[in-house]
Amino acid sequence: MSNSDQLNLFDDSSIAGNSEFSSLELIPKDPKIPIPSGTYETLETLTEHCQQCQRCELGQNRTHLVIHRGNPKASLMIVGEAPGQNEDEQGLPFVGKSGQLLDKILASVKLDSERDVYICNVNKCRPPGNRKPTSSEIDACKPYLLEQIRLVNPKIILLTGATAVQGILADKRGITKIRGQWFDWEGRFCMPIFHPAYLLRNPSREQGKPKWLMWQDIQEVRRKLDEIS
Ligand code: URA
Repeated sequence: MSNSDQLNLFDDSSIAGNSEFSSLELIPKDPKIPIPSGTYETLETLTEHCQQCQRCELGQNRTHLVIHRGNPKASLMIVGEAPGQNEDEQGLPFVGKSGQLLDKILASVKLDSERDVYICNVNKCRPPGNRKPTSSEIDACKPYLLEQIRLVNPKIILLTGATAVQGILADKRGITKIRGQWFDWEGRFCMPIFHPAYLLRNPSREQGKPKWLMWQDIQEVRRKLDEIS
């Protein structure tokens, strides 16, 4: 595939509109009480536990909890912000327009979103009106994300957008400053990248524009994946 063929995949015009808590009742409702690392033996137990979660108010209005999609054995993990309407309806992350673009971005470097990647979000429940999750909602849900990372054990983590950066790296610099850079986070390669929703709002593929920068970043991710595999 030529460079321009691969960049064409970014075209979004076709996109249509050992448990500490052995009992589920024991999930600490107070988000200030942490859920310790090692609480869940499997992603299934984590999911079952999250179904009961009311650590923040987002739990009251969810249609579906949104935990993950993709391959739990993948070396590459992608972390988004929180479910939107489509995700809340289907119970899967990144299945709306942003998700369709994300799949195309991955396909541009021959990565299949079901086979090669594990996809999840910082927050597991949809914030009303798709607002950004608050810091306390992020903190309340963070133990689940940390357990997902421990259980999936990815070599590379991509953080899509500012909320994912806030959830993991706690770096206050803007995403445009730090995207495309590798960070060492607990022995894993971690890279902030633009959120696909931002690319949908900025469709130009000109050199230096967000879509072009994403193309540079995803090629670097592919290179790193090949290098460490
Ligand atoms: N945006 C996100 O950050 N996550 C999703 O799952 C969908 C849209």
